[in-house]
Amino acid sequence: MAEGCLRSESGSFHVKRKVNDPLAVTENLENIESVSHRAAEIVRQLLTFARKDSVTMHSVPLNAFINESLKLARSAIPDNISAVSDISGQKMVMKGDATQLQQVIMNLINNARDAVEDSADPRIKVSLSLYEPDAAFLHKHPEVTGGELAHLSVADNGSGIPTELIDKVFEPFFTTKSVGKGTGLGLAMVYGAVQRHNGVLEIDSISGEGTTVHVYLPAVHERRQEGREVKQESITGQGEMILLVDDEVMILETVGTVLRRLGYRVVERTNGQEAFDYYRDHRREIAIVISDVLMPVLGGIELVQAIRKLDSHVPVILMTGYDASGRAEQIGDVDHCALLNKPAPIADLSLLIREMIQAA
Ligand SMILES: Nc1ncnc2c1ncn2[C@@H]1O[C@H](COP(=O)(O)OP(=O)(O)OP(=O)(O)O)[C@@H](O)[C@H]1O
Ligand SMILES: [Mg+2]
Repeated sequence: MAEGCLRSESGSFHVKRKVNDPLAVTENLENIESVSHRAAEIVRQLLTFARKDSVTMHSVPLNAFINESLKLARSAIPDNISAVSDISGQKMVMKGDATQLQQVIMNLINNARDAVEDSADPRIKVSLSLYEPDAAFLHKHPEVTGGELAHLSVADNGSGIPTELIDKVFEPFFTTKSVGKGTGLGLAMVYGAVQRHNGVLEIDSISGEGTTVHVYLPAVHERRQEGREVKQESITGQGEMILLVDDEVMILETVGTVLRRLGYRVVERTNGQEAFDYYRDHRREIAIVISDVLMPVLGGIELVQAIRKLDSHVPVILMTGYDASGRAEQIGDVDHCALLNKPAPIADLSLLIREMIQAA
């Protein structure tokens, strides 16, 4: 779709740049490239807004999720900036939309990174802890109905926000950054996503000293939630082997953790080719394959086709995001292959896995 087009266009600029070396051309192409990256970024943010009503909330193990998001975000932080995290050992789970939560973290970290650009000793700290709201907090935020909250904060010792601008920063398109650097959509997106998750957003900032953004999200202690979910909603496995394939490490980790907790053994691979290689060598052990559709090297549909040449029976579940619509009919007549929209509730996934393993 739109996002994919922009991405592949910026890819083609890359190719051209390698072919044509003269400096002037390179510079122009670099500009085009950065503009098209920027455009892709805007489209991505807008798509998140557009998905507002269609997002499916599912269980997100927050500690692992934040850790994984930080690994991704680190690649956008220059080495001279000290970036540390303090993730509580208390495991928290919340109902949430992984895409939106990921963008919240990315946006806050990118803002912190930009804010410390001119600091002598640039520092960013991301923290996650369990928070029991006190009376003062509940009074200040009457929309919070009580119960535990996950407290995520991103702190920096950067430029800070002048008091007179603090109310403006959440407005869409408000930015103090130069053209091409900021669009002013980041915090508007963060605000929308936090609201969507029934959370609370606070910002503490002192001009010239730094900023801390606090996000409070309704969450529960994993221990309590676990028993409920596994017993009442989800159907457990008996040690069957699942080959799980997704290019997003975070999804692999999250879904893998849930499937293991349900009693399956899980082997994880990050693209269709690696998955196929593993399948070829271990086909007798694998009870079911669960794969993403859009992946680098070899996609999910190509993976199913390759597996079917070896084996006509092993069940395959393809998980499709909004970006894979239209490819679904291609596997319509393949036996033992089902499609599931992402993100799928665990209960649905666990039921489908069981049905397909039994039918195979
Ligand atoms: N951590 C921070 N420290 C200082 N100023 C900040 C911080 N976070 C946000 N701001 C201010 O708020 C403005 C709006 O932030 P927002 O994330 O919405 O947009 P942006 O960062 O300018 O652009 P975009 O996020 O779309 O790339 C920023 O331009 C900046 O002036
Ligand atoms: Mg921003």
